[in-house]
Amino acid sequence: MNMILRRLSRAATAGLVAAAALTAAAHSAEAADTLGSAAAGQGRYFGTAVAAGHLGEADYTATLDREFGSVTPENEMKWDATEPSRGTFTFTSADRIVDHAQSRGMDVRGHTLVWHSQLPSWVGTLGASDLRTAMKDHISGLMGHYKGEIHSWDVVNEAFQDGGSGARRSSPFQDKLGDGFIEEAFRAARAADPAAKLCYNDYNTDGVNAKSTAVYNMVKDFTSRGVPIDCVGFQSHFNSNSPVPSDYRQNLQRFADLGVDVQITELDIEGSGSAQAADYTKVVQACLAVERCTGMTVWGVTDKYSWRSGGTPLLFDGNYAEKPAYDAVLSALGGSGGPGEPGGPGEGTATCTATYTRTADWDGGYNGEVTVTAGSEPIGSWTATVTLPARQSVSALWNGTAAFNGNVMTVRPSWNGALAAGTSTTFGFTVTKNGSDAAPAVGACTAS
Ligand code: XIL
Repeated sequence: MNMILRRLSRAATAGLVAAAALTAAAHSAEAADTLGSAAAGQGRYFGTAVAAGHLGEADYTATLDREFGSVTPENEMKWDATEPSRGTFTFTSADRIVDHAQSRGMDVRGHTLVWHSQLPSWVGTLGASDLRTAMKDHISGLMGHYKGEIHSWDVVNEAFQDGGSGARRSSPFQDKLGDGFIEEAFRAARAADPAAKLCYNDYNTDGVNAKSTAVYNMVKDFTSRGVPIDCVGFQSHFNSNSPVPSDYRQNLQRFADLGVDVQITELDIEGSGSAQAADYTKVVQACLAVERCTGMTVWGVTDKYSWRSGGTPLLFDGNYAEKPAYDAVLSALGGSGGPGEPGGPGEGTATCTATYTRTADWDGGYNGEVTVTAGSEPIGSWTATVTLPARQSVSALWNGTAAFNGNVMTVRPSWNGALAAGTSTTFGFTVTKNGSDAAPAVGACTAS
C-alpha cells in the first residue's frame, strides 16, 4: 500500500515539475547544445552514472542537469544497498537519485538485479531452493518499488567468464541454480515490471570475441524460445589494455540483428587530449550507425569521482571543465546542427499523429499505450494530450513526462522526442479505474 501511495504522489508531482524543467531545457538548447539534447536529436538518450552522495554539490548537479537525459545509480540499486538483510529493503539513496532525475525530466536506468558482486553475504549462505526464492523476491521487491519508472533494467550483470572458454562465471546463482538462473531472473523481471526493457549487461563483450559470442548465443536461444529479453548492455570500460575494438559496430549490429536493442551502459575511456577524444568519437559513431543502439551512458560525470579516477576516463575534468572528449562526443552527436538549423529538427512544417491502444486490463485498472508517429518531416519534439473519463486516475507513466490539468494529461517526451520522418515512439501509462472502464480520448498531437 505504501508503495502504491508513493508512486501515485511521485507520478503527479514529478509530472508537473518535469514539464517546467522541459520548458527551461528547450530554451537553453537554442543557445548551446548539450549532450542530452544532441543525442535526442539522433533519437538516442545520453546518460551518466550518478552517486547520491554527490547530489548536494552544486557544480555536480548543475553539470548533471544541464547535460544528461538519463541517469544510472552507480551503486545505490545494487543488492547490498537495497536488501542488506533478507526481506528488508532500503531505498533511501536510490530514491534520492530517482526523485532528482524525475524532477528534471531525466529518465532512469536500473542497475542491477542479479550480480555476483556487491552481494550481501547472506545470499551466499542459502541452499538452492531458498536462493531461488530469494532471487525472485529481490527482483520483485526492487522492480516493484520502481514499477513504471525505469526505462531499462540490467537484470543480470557479468554472468560470463573472461577468456576464451565462453563459460559461465562462478557465483552463488550459477553454482547452485545452474545455467537456468539467467532465464529465471528474466522471467521474474518481466512479471515484476512489464514496461521496463530487460537487459543482459557485461564487459569485454564490446568486440566480437569468445565471451561476446557466448552472450550472443544465449540471447539467440532466449529470443528463439520466447524468454523475455529486450536489450543487451555493453559496459565499454576502455583503456590501453582493453582498447575500443575495431569491430565494435559490427558486434553491436550482430546483437541488434537478433531483434534486441543494444545500449552502451558504462562508457569510460582512460586517457586524455585528442587521443581520448578520438576514441570517444569511435564509440559514438558506432552507436549511431546501429539503428537499434538506443542510447549511451558514461560511467560518471567528472573525472574526480570516477571509479578509475587515476585514468581520467570521463568527459568533464575534476573542475567540471569540458575536455576535448566532450567536444568530440558533442560533435559526433551532431551537436552543431541544433533545432531549427538546416537539416535539424524544427525545419519546415512538422506534424505528428497519436493513436491509442489498451495493452493490459485487470479488475481495478488498465495500461494504455499511445503511439506517436512523425509525418513526412523529421520532428524534434512532440506533445500529446490524453483526456481521462470521469473517476479514472493515472498512477504511473513511462517514456514520457506528464502535466495534469483536471482530467487532461499533457504528455511530452522524456528521451524519445526526436523522430525521423514516418517513424514512431510510444509512451505508456497505468490507469486506476475507480469503477469506470471507459476508454480515454487521445487528442491532437503537436510536433515541433
Ligand atoms: C563500480 C562503481 O563505479 C564503484 O563505485 C563500486 O565501488 C564498484 O562498482 N561493472 C559494473 C558496475 O557493472 O556496477 C561497476 O561499478 C563497474 C564495473
